[in-house]
Amino acid sequence: MSMFEITPSATSGATGTLDYYHSLTSQLTALTAGEADIIANLANISAVLFEHIDNINWIGFYIMKHGELVLGPFQGKVACVRIPVGQGVCGTAVATGAVQRVENVHDFAGHIACDAASESELVLPIKHQGKVVAVLDIDSPNQNRFSKLDQQGFELMLPLLESLNWHSIWKPHAE
Ligand code: SME
Repeated sequence: MSMFEITPSATSGATGTLDYYHSLTSQLTALTAGEADIIANLANISAVLFEHIDNINWIGFYIMKHGELVLGPFQGKVACVRIPVGQGVCGTAVATGAVQRVENVHDFAGHIACDAASESELVLPIKHQGKVVAVLDIDSPNQNRFSKLDQQGFELMLPLLESLNWHSIWKPHAE
């Protein structure tokens, strides 16, 4: 059995620099290469990011199914299972198609508090064939945790995230 190991020493650059995010993205690409199962890949991606991003209390994916977001692989405390489009930070990311960087979640009208410890949040929509198929949600117990540079760093991961096998789980149509 081979163990894929990501260690801080194998990750170049200081935590939080673009170099660091570049290095994490390369390692996530290697980790998921050759594996078609998207749930396995999303689970491992959330595990790596939870371990190697400082000062976060929750990270994971919500996946669009039949017109609403449904909880996917994550690391952190038990979370809300379903989020309607347009509600909360995650639902706003889907409705607008834009990254949501919220310095203080208490100032965000409609923020959904899954973990009361969360103070700031970054949500990136993941698109496939022009539609939002999922979001990556990252929560921090610190206000102002995510800078523009952190946003750019996570955006480096989008080509990889968007290349995953979304067809196997994305349910675009209401039933
Ligand atoms: N706070 C999010 C809900 C998801 S949990 O934080 C994991 C929101 O407002 O969309």
